[in-house]
Amino acid sequence: MRDMSERIKEMAAHTYGTWGSQKGWKAPLLVTDAEGVYFFDSSGKRYIDFSSQLMCSNLGHKNKVVMEAIVKQAEKLPYVAPSFVTEILIEAVEALRTVFPEKLSKFFFSTSGTAANEAAMKMLRQYKFPSYKVISRYRSYHGATAVSQAWTGDPRRWYAELARTVVDGVVFAPDNYCYRCPFAMTYPDCDVQCARYLDYMIKEEGNVAAIVVEPIVGTNGRIIPPPEYYPILRQICDENDVLLVCDEVMSGFYRTGKAFAIEHWDVLPDILTTAKGASAAYTPVAITASTQQVADFFEEEVFCHGHTFAYHALAASAIPTAISEHVKLFDSGRPQKASEYLKQQLYDLADKHICVGDVRGVGHFWALEIVKNRKTKEPFDTKADKFSGKALMTGKIAGNAMQNGLYVSAWYDTLVIAPPLIMTESEIDEAIQILDKSLEIADQEAVDTGLPASRSCEYNPRSGDK
Ligand SMILES: Cc1ncc(COP(=O)(O)O)c(C=O)c1O
Repeated sequence: MRDMSERIKEMAAHTYGTWGSQKGWKAPLLVTDAEGVYFFDSSGKRYIDFSSQLMCSNLGHKNKVVMEAIVKQAEKLPYVAPSFVTEILIEAVEALRTVFPEKLSKFFFSTSGTAANEAAMKMLRQYKFPSYKVISRYRSYHGATAVSQAWTGDPRRWYAELARTVVDGVVFAPDNYCYRCPFAMTYPDCDVQCARYLDYMIKEEGNVAAIVVEPIVGTNGRIIPPPEYYPILRQICDENDVLLVCDEVMSGFYRTGKAFAIEHWDVLPDILTTAKGASAAYTPVAITASTQQVADFFEEEVFCHGHTFAYHALAASAIPTAISEHVKLFDSGRPQKASEYLKQQLYDLADKHICVGDVRGVGHFWALEIVKNRKTKEPFDTKADKFSGKALMTGKIAGNAMQNGLYVSAWYDTLVIAPPLIMTESEIDEAIQILDKSLEIADQEAVDTGLPASRSCEYNPRSGDK
């Protein structure tokens, strides 16, 4: 039997690592087990998971109820073609209807957030034909294939554009990024120009079919718009006969404290996509949901879309229990208490470390934005640095944390604090203690301006602060 480290290297040599040059995919960490908020490597070392893997393991690892449901379905009937219906699919749709807003009542099932957005594009472009343009925002990520990458604002699109692997007809709007307002204005005096400008864009662009937003931006910064933002956007969409599409692949399924993030604003989109939390990452499943109005259009029109694995029984099998486990958890009041505790710990941590420019978030969805200088907000790295091979500061912090037993995801200038919703207060303490040490790496290169960290989410009463 060959040595395991050799087999890992050989496996890596025969697979493509994601989102990077392959020289960085030589000896990935072998994870052998996980339980609750922890996972373990092959040496038995324990890591506390502060990002729910890719912000998807909402119920933590190895939830027995969800695992049993999957096993039961695997034994009963793992797969039939999407032209048939399975009992588990009926159960999954019934369960989804208990969490989705009533008006989003028609679903398409696929197996990734990317695929959910591809389906949304087909729906909206057919429905709005001949209008075809989609307005997205720079600070966004929507997936890895032609449509979803074209909607994406972050540098992953730049690469895809160079490789000509994106679709056309996508334009980008300024972000609702109060910490670095693209209009150099301050809320509330700004009168929410970032939302109002969309009306100008739609009228000047012409042929706009939809606006697509992550209601609370995920990987690109946990950016929370002010209370007026989505009501204004909804009104602009209605006045201009444009669809509003919410990508809740990451923010959905209680990540922000509500089933869907857009519900914090009491606004409804025409199409909503979601994935990750829908199965709490136990199976690869994603959902594209539309209003009945969009659905009615396809009564006569061909819905020209599908996959071999659409409505996959095994993928759907995690949905009913994932939903009931989420609901049970929130009925207990524990995650609501823990998220308030998490917020306070992050505020304290941010005050202590001069490298934290802004701390923002809601529920279990937080960002620490790392800067060199709180006054000038100068970042350590640029977006372009992300794929240049340069070791980014957030990567150094996350790397050090990992050595000390804390897994925290990083994306160029922010650390993604998105623990499983089951994390207890003492587990939060454990994670914060490790992060506290790792942030010193950036402090050493930051300028002490005497200013406190900004809390750009605080204008929003939904962050629980006012
Ligand atoms: C907001 C958002 N949309 C879409 C996607 C793509 O989902 P997937 O990686 O499942 O294809 C992601 C992934 O992180 C995401 O965060």
